[in-house]
Amino acid sequence: MDIIRTSDYEEMSRKAADLMEAQLREKPDCVLGLATGSTPVGTYRELVRRAREGLLHFSKAKTVNLDEYVGLPPENEQSYRYFMQKNLFDWVDIKRENTFVPDGMAKDLPKACGEYEALIRSLKGIDLQLLGIGHNGHIGFNEPGEVFEKETHLVNLSERTIKANARFFSSPDEVPRQAVTMGILSIMRARKILLLASGAQKAKIVKEAFFGPITPKVPASVLQLHPAVTLIADAEALKECDLV
Ligand code: PGA
Repeated sequence: MDIIRTSDYEEMSRKAADLMEAQLREKPDCVLGLATGSTPVGTYRELVRRAREGLLHFSKAKTVNLDEYVGLPPENEQSYRYFMQKNLFDWVDIKRENTFVPDGMAKDLPKACGEYEALIRSLKGIDLQLLGIGHNGHIGFNEPGEVFEKETHLVNLSERTIKANARFFSSPDEVPRQAVTMGILSIMRARKILLLASGAQKAKIVKEAFFGPITPKVPASVLQLHPAVTLIADAEALKECDLV
């Protein structure tokens, strides 16, 4: 595992954009696995800036997002499809038909989960997967549990996640209770993984995930087994880790 320590959120975002830019230059038709939440917003902002300056092109790239709430249509401002449009896709030269987000409105959700997994396989897998980390150690919406759920599946969100995400809604009651998420194996099959963490409120979970035991109780801990993980975190998020 590589750890890149940055002074703050802005530097974390620039470093993450650097690695994504390198991926796009090395393989313009790469498959990027994308994440939502507040952590990657600065990275997307930086990618948009570079794309608008003509330094970076997404015209051949494909993207697959980690997750989506059940019951929110793409035009709902809290949906992750909407988030991706507003934070990245609407501002760069990516083709809409090359961007994939799980369908939280599907009538047959288990079937849609299987189809999403098949889609990732048909794209020949993910070259670079961007991740945030939840306060409870979730990646995507893989919540702490007794087992690692392997492939794309329907999940009941934990109370902690509902509370954490309530900040984006007018009340906690409006936060959907379920989501569709890529599984742990779907994520672990990515050729490279980039996990971003910022701020003191992530310090405890970053230490547990990267230096504690590997357990489904801390889903991100499984990343310790991945051969090509880069953790980019600011000093606050790394303050509990004993790094030399
Ligand atoms: P955040 O969420 O970036 O909004 O902190 C991270 C996550 O839940 O994966």
